[in-house]
Amino acid sequence: MPTRQWNSDTGGLFYEGLFELTSLRTFDEVTTFINQLICPNPVCVETGTAYGFPEGEPYWNTTSSIVKRICEPKDEYLISVDLLDRTEVIDKLFLAGNTDRNKCILKVGDSVQVLSQLDIPYIDFLCLDSGEDEELLLHEYLTIQHLLSEKHYVLVDDIHNTHSVKYKKIVPHLKNLGYTWMQVPTETGLFVSAKGYPIP
Ligand SMILES: C[S@@+](CC[C@H](N)C(=O)[O-])C[C@H]1O[C@@H](n2cnc3c(N)ncnc32)[C@H](O)[C@@H]1O
Repeated sequence: MPTRQWNSDTGGLFYEGLFELTSLRTFDEVTTFINQLICPNPVCVETGTAYGFPEGEPYWNTTSSIVKRICEPKDEYLISVDLLDRTEVIDKLFLAGNTDRNKCILKVGDSVQVLSQLDIPYIDFLCLDSGEDEELLLHEYLTIQHLLSEKHYVLVDDIHNTHSVKYKKIVPHLKNLGYTWMQVPTETGLFVSAKGYPIP
């Protein structure tokens, strides 16, 4: 594990030899940071696949950012679940970002149903960002919690989005379970929590 040092000049943390953290502001910065600490061969899962093509920077979405920043460097894969078939968007996004399309497995269907049938040994990184329903993300978590590795990350999107309700049940649940957590001031707000890993 890298050495953590508080840097009083920048007001941030320095992970020796790896990453100087002053302030995380984007999803891409968060995944880049997590990649420094997560175990080898991390299996990643997300609910709510990227559905649009952001102007300019393809990593303004969860799917290609997770693959580019975590799965590619660690030679692992992401399972991304969505009610709708997002193949076309993903093909386009990954091509634009020169991101390895083979490292993203799309599963189409209702998240809880798909997650309940996943045939994987464990999950090291989980990102929840599917439907606008207070219960859904909590049900997703409860459905696959038995697969979560002893050390893992769970991210929840949209916590500062006033139009969103999706985080309302899952965030307090994770806090009650004793996760270490932080709120990252991305445009829509990102809850980053971990078991067994340091949080900035
Ligand atoms: C906010 S978007 C995801 C955006 C993506 N994570 C990103 O930041 O680039 C939410 C997605 O959840 C999907 N969704 C809604 N209800 C769902 C459900 N019950 N199961 C699976 N996916 C669902 C929608 O089709 C939509 O693509």
